[in-house]
Amino acid sequence: MEQTFIMIKPDGVQRGLIGEIICRFEKKGFTLKGLKLMSVERAFAEKHYEDLSAKPFFGGLVEYIISGPVVAMVWEGKGVVATGRKLIGATNPLASEPGTIRGDFAIDIGRNVIHGSDSVASASKEIALWFPDGTVNWQSTVHPWIYE
Ligand code: TYD
Repeated sequence: MEQTFIMIKPDGVQRGLIGEIICRFEKKGFTLKGLKLMSVERAFAEKHYEDLSAKPFFGGLVEYIISGPVVAMVWEGKGVVATGRKLIGATNPLASEPGTIRGDFAIDIGRNVIHGSDSVASASKEIALWFPDGTVNWQSTVHPWIYE
């Protein structure tokens, strides 16, 4: 089953949005496979965002990610990468639809509350980076009530 990496960024943690965000993924029917509250070092944040290292906003982005604890999660389910991105909303919160996480809770692109993998390939890279010891292997008992 497909998995994605989701991170609640430092602003989301500081603003008390952890429960709200977990709630949205849970209620959709996705399964939580890994979860930890952690602070990351600069080198780790740079590695996570290495594809963006040439961008002008890279320095500020790294400062933001290391500015406080984040919640790292792995969520599993059919189509969870693309649907997770839909739940999250567009990168720029001013363009995110109401009803999405960024659309409901953010204004500035540099304080957009949450990260979600943008492809199955980047999800597996990010999960390996953030959860080097693996995730929890379990299956929810409501599985037959979510999948036909
Ligand atoms: P990106 O991977 O393009 O977006 P997403 O998080 O939606 O996959 O960019 C990573 C993060 O970089 C983004 O969430 C916020 C930040 N960012 C800026 O601060 N300024 C920008 O102009 C862009 C495009 C992104």
